[in-house]
Amino acid sequence: MGEKKPEKKRIAVIPGDGIGKEVIPQAVRVIRASGAPVEMTDFDWGADRYLRDQTTVPADGFAMLARDFDAILVGAFGDPRVKTNTHAKEILLGMRFKMDLYANVRPVRLLDTALCPLKGVESKDIDFVVLRENTEGVYTDAGGVFKQGTADEIATQEDINTRKGVERIIRYAFEYCRAHTKLDGSPCGKVLMCDKSNAMTHAGSLWQRVFKEVSAEYPAVTAQHMYVDALCMQMVRDPRQFDVIVTNNIFGDIITDLAAALQGGLGMAASGNIHPGRTSMFEPVHGSAPPIAGKNEANPFGAILTAAMMLRHLEFTNEADRIEAAVLEAVHQKKTTRDIGGTLGTREAGEWVANRVS
Ligand code: NAI
Ligand code: MG
Repeated sequence: MGEKKPEKKRIAVIPGDGIGKEVIPQAVRVIRASGAPVEMTDFDWGADRYLRDQTTVPADGFAMLARDFDAILVGAFGDPRVKTNTHAKEILLGMRFKMDLYANVRPVRLLDTALCPLKGVESKDIDFVVLRENTEGVYTDAGGVFKQGTADEIATQEDINTRKGVERIIRYAFEYCRAHTKLDGSPCGKVLMCDKSNAMTHAGSLWQRVFKEVSAEYPAVTAQHMYVDALCMQMVRDPRQFDVIVTNNIFGDIITDLAAALQGGLGMAASGNIHPGRTSMFEPVHGSAPPIAGKNEANPFGAILTAAMMLRHLEFTNEADRIEAAVLEAVHQKKTTRDIGGTLGTREAGEWVANRVS
C-alpha cells in the first residue's frame, strides 16, 4: 500500500522593499532545497509598484490571497521614496487586519551563546515565545488631530481593545502553551500576560478580567502577570523564566525588538501572523533596512527561519526541522553575515544553508 502523497501547498511570496527583496529569495531557495511539496507564486506588491502605478494592493487582493493560497511569505515594506509609508500600511497592516490574522507569533530562541549580549547565558536559557495581539490596540489609527499647527494643537491616538479581540489572543496563548514543548523537550507550563494596567486602567482592566477567566479553564498552566516595564527589566536580568508571553499590539512590537537582541539581533528573528484555519502570513521581524539594502549584507536567517516556521505550520515538519538544523549549523560554523560575526554575503549565507538542507 503506497503512502498517500501530500498535496502541494500553494504559497504567495511577497518580497516587498529593501532587504526584503534580498532575504526572501534566499528563503525561497532554501524551501526549494528542502524538497517541500509547495508551489510558490511571486507578487510585486511594494514601493516600486506603488511608485509606478499607485497600486498598493490590487483590487480583491486580500480575498485572492485567502482563496488561492495556503500561506503567504512576506519580506518587509518601507522605502525612503514613499514618505507617507502608505503602501506599507495598506499591504502589511491590510493583511493583518483585513485577513484578521490576530495572533502574531514571535519565537525567541538563542541558537548560539556567542550571539547573546548577556553574560553567562547558555543557548537553552533563551527559549520563549511572544504572542502579540495583531488586529487592534493603538494600530487601528483611531484618533485625530485638532487645531493642527497651532499652539493649541491636540492629538489623540485611541487604544482599541475589544472583549473578543482580547479573549481570542489570550486563549490562543493557553492553547499554544498546551500544544508546545520547549526545545529541550521540557513542557511549556507558563503563560505570562503583560500590560500596563496600573496606568492604562480601562484597557488594563479588560485584559486582567479576561486573563483571569480564561486561565481558570487551563488549571494545568501557570498564569502569571507583569507590567511591561518590569518585563523589559526581567527579560534582560533573567530571560530563563519565560515560556509564553501574551500582550497587546504595541507592547508586543516593542518587547520583541528587545527579545530579538537576545537572540542575535533583528536579522535572526522570525514571525507568523496567524488565524487558525485561515491563510496565514509569515515574515521576518525586521524591516526593509534601507541603509544596507542592495549591498548583499542583510542577514537572511530571519527570513529562512520564517520559512521554516511557515513549513511547520503547513505540517511539513521534517523540512522545517532540516532547515532549522542547517541554520543552527551555519551559526556554529560562522557561515553567516557580518551582523552576527561571519564574513558571508546574503546570497552566500543563503546558499550555504540551502546546500546543507539538500
Ligand atoms: P529595520 O528592521 O529595517 O532596521 C533596524 C536595524 O536593524 C538597522 O540598523 C538595520 O540595518 C538592522 N537590520 C534589520 N534587519 C537586518 C538584517 N536582516 N540583517 C542585518 N541587519 C539588519 O527597522 P527600521 O530601520 O526602523 O525601519 C526601516 C524601514 O522598514 C522603515 O521604512 C520601516 O517603516 C520599515 N519597517 C517595516 C517592517 C515590516 O515590514 N514588517 C517592520 C519594521 C520596520
Ligand atoms: Mg517592530
